[in-house]
Amino acid sequence: MAKILDRRRLVPNLHLIEVHAPEVAKKSRPGQFVIIMPDERGERIPLSIADWDPEKGSVTSVFLLVGTSTHKLSLLKPGDEVPVYVGPLGKPSEIENFGTVLLAAGCFGIGAIYPLARALKKAGNRVLTIIDVKANYLLYWEDKLKAVSDRVFISARDFALESKDYVPAKIEEVARAETKIDRVVAIGCTYLMYRCSEATKPLGIKTIVSLNPVMVDGTGMCGACRCTAGGQTKFACVDGPDFDGHQLDWDELFKRRKSYFDDEIRSLCYWERTNFP
Ligand code: FES
Repeated sequence: MAKILDRRRLVPNLHLIEVHAPEVAKKSRPGQFVIIMPDERGERIPLSIADWDPEKGSVTSVFLLVGTSTHKLSLLKPGDEVPVYVGPLGKPSEIENFGTVLLAAGCFGIGAIYPLARALKKAGNRVLTIIDVKANYLLYWEDKLKAVSDRVFISARDFALESKDYVPAKIEEVARAETKIDRVVAIGCTYLMYRCSEATKPLGIKTIVSLNPVMVDGTGMCGACRCTAGGQTKFACVDGPDFDGHQLDWDELFKRRKSYFDDEIRSLCYWERTNFP
């Protein structure tokens, strides 16, 4: 059992959850994730680690409300307990002095990219961060990212933020303005990471994406997170979650992401009907 220290809504549809898990906090590295089960009858879902505090023994994630499990998580209160909280899982992101690194993040990825920006900055990189949001009221952690980035750009389809660019256009704009970008890292929904990878391919910039496929065990045993990278079968939980975005079979990824859509909708409708009649 792991105790919830904090759970709050950051912006509509995105919540923060902080869990007391001292062993996980001690070993967490940027790019890793945890598997959480909201209750004993729930499913195991992966959440990217957005921050951790070894002294307090806490680990923080940001999650998007998608299906039944994330809706259950969004109702947890400080003091509640979850039956399963396993981690840190996955390979940590590569951290070294690459030169100039451009980070692109949207949705829950804005939280997930924070420890990566912090570590890359500490390693001596020039860190440029693009935060992608649909509208100004969906923006969060801008100050945290500003504290660990040399520059932060907002990409939005919202005139309140004086921007109407989707993130790939912003990547091209920043890349044109810079003398050299040595690496791009994108974290967020599959479509955002796909579009970022497509944008950087003609520019010849190595692009790393952090996959978030369906997972069950998170330790390479069930095959749920299978993907194809460089023509080879990989498991996102143990071979990733970071992969070269130019090597991935995106069509396969999109198809596999949709496998349980109908079941998710049925499950959520049933759960809402039985819990909020
Ligand atoms: Fe089971 Fe990756 S989640 S193999």
